Amino acid sequence: MSHPSAIDTDDSRLRVCPTGLDPHRMPNHVAVIMDGNGRWAKAKGLPRIMGHRAGVESLKRTLRLCNDWGINALTVYAFSTENWSRPGDEVNFLMALFERVLERELESLINEQVRIRFLGDLQDLPFRLQELIAEATNLTAKNTGINFNVCANYGGRRELVLAAQKLAQRSVRGDLDPAHINEKTFAAELFTANEVDPDLLIRTSGEMRVSNFLLWQLAYAEIHISDVLWPDFDATALREALSDYQSRRRRFGGLDPVASDYSKT
Ligand code: IPE
Ligand code: IPE
Ligand code: MG
Repeated sequence: MSHPSAIDTDDSRLRVCPTGLDPHRMPNHVAVIMDGNGRWAKAKGLPRIMGHRAGVESLKRTLRLCNDWGINALTVYAFSTENWSRPGDEVNFLMALFERVLERELESLINEQVRIRFLGDLQDLPFRLQELIAEATNLTAKNTGINFNVCANYGGRRELVLAAQKLAQRSVRGDLDPAHINEKTFAAELFTANEVDPDLLIRTSGEMRVSNFLLWQLAYAEIHISDVLWPDFDATALREALSDYQSRRRRFGGLDPVASDYSKT
């Protein structure tokens, strides 16, 4: 990798950005569908669970890089509402892995000023994991570094249905006039309440689908598909994704102010 350059940011943390990337045009929020653990393991003749184990190392690396490179929020897809349909052994391994990693990494998360949150229907997760999630969330809530959102038992459709239920309940109670439901009130009922929408979605392992991830929030995200399998996703692959992002012109349904010539229309 090329030599990094240090920049000062308004939150006064000294951040480092690799040469070739514009530190002022970094995405605020990056979302990642961490895919390809199973294929990574298979290619090495290992059981799938070894791929998940290696995936954790990749996640720790990516979180650190995002924090160092001035990205304010990282949201990762760790377990979908559909992943329960996998063999019981794999699901149990994943739940135990989440517990172990949370226990082991909590101290570093605190030291590195990471604010961790878990997004999803958490009540269906094993009780011990729910306890660890509550502890990690509380102990890091006041941290001032990157917002790290882990989607666990997360499904975009379920999130939307739950939000609709909550709004309906408030209306029935007489707290909310249905005519006043708008995009802002709706977004406030999602798991991602208080988080800006992702600017960039990265999916690894070459799959070109959303797989029920952040269906509302990705409305205007730029999408980068990386062929790298998640356990191999490293600084070079992240740099490539960010460089791809910085090459895009985001129009949000409007016209590109540079390319369009209003005087001729
Ligand atoms: C992503 O890797 C991790 C989870 C979904 C938990 P996969 O387990 O989906 O890996 P592949 O897609 O089978 O290679
Ligand atoms: C998406 O990957 C879910 C996670 C990364 C947690 P999957 O491997 O479950 O998605 P599909 O089955 O390929 O769509
Ligand atoms: Mg997969």
